[in-house]
Amino acid sequence: MGVTLTIDQHIARVVIDRPEALNAMNESVLVQMKQAVDSIQNNENVRVAIFMGGGVKSFVAGADINYMSSMTPLEGEKWGKFGQSVFMAISELRCPTIAVIQGYALGGGTELAISCDLRIASEKACFAQPEVKLGIIPGFGGTQRLTRLIGPGYAKQMIFTGDQFSALQALAMGLVNEVVSHDKLIERVDALAQSIISGSPNGIRLAKEAIEHGLQGSLNKGLQLEAALFGLCFASPEQREGMTAFVEKRKPKF
Ligand code: CAA
Repeated sequence: MGVTLTIDQHIARVVIDRPEALNAMNESVLVQMKQAVDSIQNNENVRVAIFMGGGVKSFVAGADINYMSSMTPLEGEKWGKFGQSVFMAISELRCPTIAVIQGYALGGGTELAISCDLRIASEKACFAQPEVKLGIIPGFGGTQRLTRLIGPGYAKQMIFTGDQFSALQALAMGLVNEVVSHDKLIERVDALAQSIISGSPNGIRLAKEAIEHGLQGSLNKGLQLEAALFGLCFASPEQREGMTAFVEKRKPKF
């Protein structure tokens, strides 16, 4: 048990499976997750990466509380930086990433989900940043990514209360892209992955780069980068194929 990576038909699937702790992340889980992410980044064949928890009860129930319970301040900082670096590696994957949330996404679980590009939740999913109930704060990016994703009002509500939020509440806050009935979750995620795969890999990669860089800086700098990457698209055979296919009234082959 731990983290497994399978790659099939352009789709990488990362499954975090620690049933005895509702998939909570200890050091070993984070190390394995980083190895899986590195393998995906080094595999040019992968066009979508899916992250999910093993079993149906939990996506990830956070960082492992037993593992953290006797940490010193220095160890806590090191652990936070390590988790941040793994989740940064996920957010820096060139291919689009989808978090599939079928149960508890708590603390580091929500932070993992928001390190992915898209979040598809089962109607049974629930989300929380319960760290203040443990005397700590979110440490794997939650104070930063959550605020950027759903705005300071909702982020502060989640972080200050530690309350659990249903999938539908998460949808209303913009925390998830879609809520799907539990038995249709995998089917919907597969369809979404196929839809992404049908597009130009080069176009999607450059679009992700423009969006991610744009989020870090000013509108002007973001627009400059967009123009440069837009131009770069015209050096790619995929632009020729995409536009030729349109003119010839056929589907493009990427
Ligand atoms: N760490 C370690 N063990 C955990 C865990 C966690 N985050 N979450 C669950 N488990 C373990 C439980 O201790 C329990 O183990 P035992 O069977 O050995 O007692 C097992 O998983 C099953 O859990 P429960 O019996 O508690 O199941 P439940 O259905 O009654 O409750 C739950 C489920 C609401 C998720 C509850 O387990 C819970 O509140 N877990 C803690 C969630 C949490 O606070 N997460 C945030 C961690 S801090 C963090 O993530 C910091 C950060 O930013 C990186």
